[in-house]
Amino acid sequence: MTRAVQVLLALTATFALCVPTGTSVVVAANGPTREIVEAQDNPIELSEESIRAGRQVYGRFCRSCHGLRADGAGMTAPPGSTPANLVDDEWDHGSTDAEIFTVIKDGVAPKFDMDAWEGRVSDDDIWHVINFLRDLASE
Ligand code: HEC
Repeated sequence: MTRAVQVLLALTATFALCVPTGTSVVVAANGPTREIVEAQDNPIELSEESIRAGRQVYGRFCRSCHGLRADGAGMTAPPGSTPANLVDDEWDHGSTDAEIFTVIKDGVAPKFDMDAWEGRVSDDDIWHVINFLRDLASE
């Protein structure tokens, strides 16, 4: 038996053993949990540079609905929509940077008045926008 086949068999055996014992469930649960905990922290430090970058993204893509001061009073929000105030302490979809990141990236179902920005705003720019909003809220 070649070394590669032995390794393959060992892996298959491990996997087969894990499933009935439930070990794989723990392993699977550990993966995403660890990722989410790490993502709580904005990977981009709050700096003048980041705030400036975030302000640009905000002005281009978000201000029309969320308003000049990000208080939800945008001039051109779709009729019947109520854009969120992004500088108060109320977060309908979670208040950590990671949760806010997910809302911006995936949008708010089912109406998607709050669009999914994935593909149009890069991950880095989403973190910059969050830094910009955190800074604005602290003023
Ligand atoms: C077309 C209008 C529109 C645009 C443009 C828009 N939003 Fe929104 N946004 C909304 C609406 C409406 C909601 C409320 C959704 C809900 O809770 O049903 C919302 C909700 C949010 C929330 C969740 C707030 C909370 O309380 O949890 C965040 C964060 C957010 N928007 C950030 C952004 C950012 C950042 C951009 C720019 C990249 C952006 N939005 C662009 C309309 C918009």
